[in-house]
Amino acid sequence: MDRVRPNIGRLKSDIERISTFIDKSKLGHTRRSFTEEYKEARVWLREKMEESGLETSIDAAANIIGRLSGSDNSLKPIIIGSHTDTVENGGMYDGTIGVLGGIEVVRILKENGVNLRHPLEIVDFTSEEPSEFGLSTIGSKGMIGELTKEMLQRRDNCGRVLSDAIHDLGGNSRSIKKLARKKGDAVLYLELHNELGPVLDNKECPLGVVTGIVGIHRYKVIVNGEANHAGTTPMNMRCDALVFTSKLVLKLQSLCKDKNRDDVVGTVGKLNVEPNASNVIPGKCEFEFEVRSLQNDIIDEIVSQFIDEAQALSKERNIKVKFDNISKSSSVIIDEGIKKVLKDSCEEVAKTMYLPSGAGHDANHINEIAPVGMIFVPSKDGKSHCPEEYTSYEEIEIGVHALIKALLAFDKILK
Ligand code: GLV
Ligand code: MN
Ligand code: MN
Repeated sequence: MDRVRPNIGRLKSDIERISTFIDKSKLGHTRRSFTEEYKEARVWLREKMEESGLETSIDAAANIIGRLSGSDNSLKPIIIGSHTDTVENGGMYDGTIGVLGGIEVVRILKENGVNLRHPLEIVDFTSEEPSEFGLSTIGSKGMIGELTKEMLQRRDNCGRVLSDAIHDLGGNSRSIKKLARKKGDAVLYLELHNELGPVLDNKECPLGVVTGIVGIHRYKVIVNGEANHAGTTPMNMRCDALVFTSKLVLKLQSLCKDKNRDDVVGTVGKLNVEPNASNVIPGKCEFEFEVRSLQNDIIDEIVSQFIDEAQALSKERNIKVKFDNISKSSSVIIDEGIKKVLKDSCEEVAKTMYLPSGAGHDANHINEIAPVGMIFVPSKDGKSHCPEEYTSYEEIEIGVHALIKALLAFDKILK
């Protein structure tokens, strides 16, 4: 009998409980960062951590940290983390299984009298998904001191400033730089996550060890044309901001497709049209696009070609187009040694394969201060960031079991 098997009934009831802290007026699971539902979930989560024997604190970037002492507290900690915010109309598992799975790991260690050598930190990172401030991975950027003054001054649509929103969650944006963790301040970062894509489900493989995580560059684009009467302005006399924007959407698609690589993707996922009336030629469009790849130089290449071509096209059409970078996260290639320990640990539990991550994670940033490793469990039909997102409790149990095995293996090996 394996002593370190998770108690899936207990974990299921935690996942179901946190899933009650949602905006019930939306589809699926909506727990946007910095909302009341998010705050309530965090209060519950912190209590859950305390109840599980973790000593909790909230850091400058409002990350919730639960700490378990190791037998040698001169060692730097191993961190297990993920997030509890969701996209709008999202799913129930993205992020939550990593945080709650981490707490279950602690309970299993305690119940079995297993003492780690290293201190262990379970972290609920603030706002991993793109927030209303236009920024994602706020907590992990903050933990390593990469939240700039400009970022902290960004406002949401209600005029709220990000630094105030961080204070409201118990953080302190003025201390972020001073308290930032440096390279070597943790020995390892581990994250359990649902794949968010179709590979494991298609291959009927219960566990994945991540080989690399895509980098993501996001931009906001403002296109200014000329609003005018939709009936009286001949087709050849228009400066239609939406027609121009549509060409850019297709241009981005072709630049990404032309690379002929599975890891290269580009998306326009957000678009506003002004004045947004059926009988007025659109005078202004604002949209956001992102480009992802496992190779940072490919992202740079696509983005700069896109901007150059958009600017050239705008001159021909007498349209003004302005690009602002919102965020850049670098891709991560997982260390060979880390991958090997993870694969061996996972294989003790179930069939395992290597695969890259097309989704971004807090690991992209924590990689600046510590080596990172990720374990994936399947997402049914590859669905995620939508209400249909699903991973069975049996699959989650396998994932948490593998996480415990990996943690024990690394605790032995790492200095
Ligand atoms: C995070 O969920 C992402 O957008 O990749
Ligand atoms: Mn997500
Ligand atoms: Mn996630």
